[in-house]
Amino acid sequence: MKISIVLGTRPEIIKMAPIIHELKARGMDFEVVHTDQHYDKNMSNIFFEELELPMPDINLQIGSGTQAEQVAGTMLGLEKHFMKTRPDVVLVQGDTNAVLGGAIAAVKMGIKVGHVEAGLRSYDNRMPEEHNRRMTDHISAMLFAPTQRSADILENENVWGQIHVTGNTVIDSIVRYLPKAKTEIPSQLGIDKFILLTAHRAENVDNPQALSDLVSVMEKCPLPVVYPIHPRTRKNLDNFNLMSRVNASDNIHLVDPVGYFEFMALEKECSLVISDSGGIQEEVTAPGIKKPIVIIRDNTERPEAVESGFAKIAGTNPDNVLNFVNEVLASDKDLTGRTPFGDGTAGKQIVGILEGFK
Ligand code: UD1
Ligand code: UDP
Repeated sequence: MKISIVLGTRPEIIKMAPIIHELKARGMDFEVVHTDQHYDKNMSNIFFEELELPMPDINLQIGSGTQAEQVAGTMLGLEKHFMKTRPDVVLVQGDTNAVLGGAIAAVKMGIKVGHVEAGLRSYDNRMPEEHNRRMTDHISAMLFAPTQRSADILENENVWGQIHVTGNTVIDSIVRYLPKAKTEIPSQLGIDKFILLTAHRAENVDNPQALSDLVSVMEKCPLPVVYPIHPRTRKNLDNFNLMSRVNASDNIHLVDPVGYFEFMALEKECSLVISDSGGIQEEVTAPGIKKPIVIIRDNTERPEAVESGFAKIAGTNPDNVLNFVNEVLASDKDLTGRTPFGDGTAGKQIVGILEGFK
């Protein structure tokens, strides 16, 4: 059986890594296709290097663009590529445009699709990720749900593929790479306690008022804020003339996006995370990290992080976000040492299922 791993963005590289390592360990036939949705060194190549992954067999060079350009470009590029390599199974992970493009290209060519991280739902139809994950789930032959809740969602939606509960590969990656976590950023900045913040969702950073609200939160946070800033957000801070406010605040420390080892160390060392990221909601629940997170969104497709006590959904109103931040920092409630997202063997389980798939 030949497996094609299609990935395009930072989190897909991190979450596919355990599967790629397991495919290699079992000597299975696979290729890695990079759509290049993320292409800056610190959004892409750094992760192949740090995670010791084989470089992609092909790079489709899709790059940035509109939703249609990214999805359709991925489909066209993959169709051409799959005509040559003829994989039996295409694996995609998560909910990006690379995922939807990969899944459609494959199913239209009669190639089985395996969806890693299936069954997540925010029920927020504004989000491109919600379109992508819903459509991908419904054309996949194998659905690897991270939790029983995700599997139940898929059952209730009557998807036609086989559903398997495996945990999330993000926990495998934390377990494997956490011993390499290291950062000098806090000491270089001369700060001790700090809040780690990330934001890149369209609904938070593409709208001038929403982005200005985010700057207000950072200005008023009770601890210094370290923000490894996504290129999308940096561009918008410039476009909306908000960078001068950021530069004028002693509380805000923007840094370029960092590698995985450095980011894990920041997660480990911070007092609290504020984020709209999906993967970070999962990572903070890993026993080696165990950090509270204030989610700057109105909803989450990862309610397990809320139910297990790690996450609070604060919305985006600055006063509400700051209230949540202060409440969490003042709380002396211990977080559980158990993550709801699996036991760190998701990659092995997924490859085991693939091996037996007919
Ligand atoms: C994408 C995914 C999102 C995921 C995120 C992970 C979709 C619809 N969105 O969002 O689900 O959470 O990746 O980080 O697939 N840019 C660069 N350099 C890069 C990559 C992007 O400068 O290497 C800039 C470009 O201006 C680009 C913008 O960031 O237009 C947005 O990039 P894009 O990949 O379209 O969306 P993300 O916000 O990264
Ligand atoms: N991450 C990283 N460097 C950074 C920011 C994030 O290595 O500067 C990692 C983080 O550890 C997590 C993943 O990137 O594994 C999350 O990616 P992102 O928030 O961009 O995407 P999402 O998970 O929301 O799709």
